[in-house]
Amino acid sequence: MVKVFINGYGNIGRRLASALTKDKEISLIGIAKYTIDEEKLKNLKNRFDVYVPENLVRKYKNSVSGSIREAVSESDLVLDAGKEGDGYSNKIKLYKPMGKPAIFQGGEERHGDKAVAEMIHNSRVNYHDASGKQYIIQGSCNVSGMGKIMQPLIEKFGDEIQRFDVTLVRRWADLEDSKEVKDSIQWDKNPHHQEDVKDFIPHAKLYVEAFKVPSRMMHLHQMVVRFHSKTPSKDQILDVFTKEFAVAILNSAKGTADVRMKAIQLGFEHGDTNMVHIHQDILRVQDETLKIVYSDDQTGLVIPENHLLLQSMIMRRPRSEAIRKTDGLFRISEKKRILEKEFG
Ligand SMILES: NC(=O)c1ccc[n+]([C@@H]2O[C@H](COP(=O)([O-])OP(=O)(O)OC[C@H]3O[C@@H](n4cnc5c(N)ncnc54)[C@H](OP(=O)(O)O)[C@@H]3O)[C@@H](O)[C@H]2O)c1
Repeated sequence: MVKVFINGYGNIGRRLASALTKDKEISLIGIAKYTIDEEKLKNLKNRFDVYVPENLVRKYKNSVSGSIREAVSESDLVLDAGKEGDGYSNKIKLYKPMGKPAIFQGGEERHGDKAVAEMIHNSRVNYHDASGKQYIIQGSCNVSGMGKIMQPLIEKFGDEIQRFDVTLVRRWADLEDSKEVKDSIQWDKNPHHQEDVKDFIPHAKLYVEAFKVPSRMMHLHQMVVRFHSKTPSKDQILDVFTKEFAVAILNSAKGTADVRMKAIQLGFEHGDTNMVHIHQDILRVQDETLKIVYSDDQTGLVIPENHLLLQSMIMRRPRSEAIRKTDGLFRISEKKRILEKEFG
């Protein structure tokens, strides 16, 4: 059994925790809480062992299992799922001195003074490179989604592709967030996604623009792929993705909310589809240009990615076996079939 501690229990941490409690190969040591009160603790401690910063242990001693430092020292691996940017100090103060491997989330830095890791993982591209490594960033939802679409196209059409231009339309907040959704379309002067994707697909000519819109319902990407000569047909493009893990092909959704609300209505855990959804009704090919539009389950996509990554890092498992395990836990192939039927 691999002993895992989840440091950070927000939108990502709570999903990681629900998944790992169902994995018989994992012993979940517990979760970290930084902001607490007795009411929150009462609900949480029925499900997990809760660990808090050292200065809060005495105050909540009847409800918590110990300090975050103690939990890290007991673990074989830490899943760091804290607020963007906290990963670096966690690494310096806790993980590195104790020699504990850690997976960081996509909001952490890959380059510069606050870099937490030497690689960004995308299960479709560099799963095996993660084997045995100490510190890795799991790419953000947008970065993970782009890898899932670009890599199959590159494998199939290779040098025929000239460049990728991607416009990311990003949700303002997650459904569970209490923060206000501002009525504005906000641009990003320097989207990190372009460099992040190039970390694992270095040779692609990729240009990314990102716009945040007042929505809580998923991200939508429009990927424009320029070929050197005539683009393959629509059917040839869709063929590339029919058997892709965690990529669904939908035909009749009218917007991202349709997909999210359907996932909730179908009782998918946390309302997650855990995948990207190509919207084939607006897939366009003309001359040397292909336009693919896909929605990206911002909160759910990276959870199976973290699960795959830990199987490479800690268990050193072959990718095909890891995919089988992850699929069993998250029912991704089954969900893909259901969604493709619902939006057929
Ligand atoms: N939300 C998404 O759709 C999404 C998708 C992909 C990747 N990510 C990435 O995943 C990470 C987490 O995002 P999120 O949306 O889950 O954030 P979130 O909902 O804001 O949760 C962050 C959590 O961090 C905890 N925290 C506070 N200080 C901490 C520390 N020093 N170390 C560890 N945790 C600490 C907070 O705990 P308390 O509640 O106890 O204060 C909070 O629950 C970010 O890097 C983000 O970029 C997010």
